[in-house]
Amino acid sequence: MAVTRTFSIIKPDATRRNLTGAVTKLLEEAGLRVVASKRIHMTRDQAGGFYAVHKERPFYNDLCTFMTSGPVVVQVLEGEDAVKRNRDVMGATNPADAAEGTIRKLYAESIEANSVHGSDSDENAAIEIAFFFQPNEIVG
Ligand code: TYD
Repeated sequence: MAVTRTFSIIKPDATRRNLTGAVTKLLEEAGLRVVASKRIHMTRDQAGGFYAVHKERPFYNDLCTFMTSGPVVVQVLEGEDAVKRNRDVMGATNPADAAEGTIRKLYAESIEANSVHGSDSDENAAIEIAFFFQPNEIVG
């Protein structure tokens, strides 16, 4: 299996509860390495651009409001089959459906305030990484 990269966000509900370390520990225990990380407060434009794919969805405006409601930690994660590995440890979008031991089962408050984002494909990972990081900010 090839070593690849994915993009992760520790969302405002998790930073508010001081869970940055707890979430990162689960990512690391899942075999992922944090090769870039920064704490930011997203602007409305950043959130809107990042989630542009969901622009027509009914939850889009509330999601952008939530993602700008507090700090987030954006990260680049590296590991074997990183996108799938991260999606597996994140758990289902809705915490009510998330498997035991996953980040969302343990920590998510709701389908919206669900603690983490993770890219859903290698192609989107590359786009999302470039949205928040310069190449020289990533140290593998
Ligand atoms: P999505 O890409 O479907 O899920 P995932 O984060 O698991 O890849 O949705 C993106 C985010 O949109 C999701 O993490 C939380 C938010 N969202 C809602 O607020 N309500 C919803 O009904 C859905 C489907 C998503």
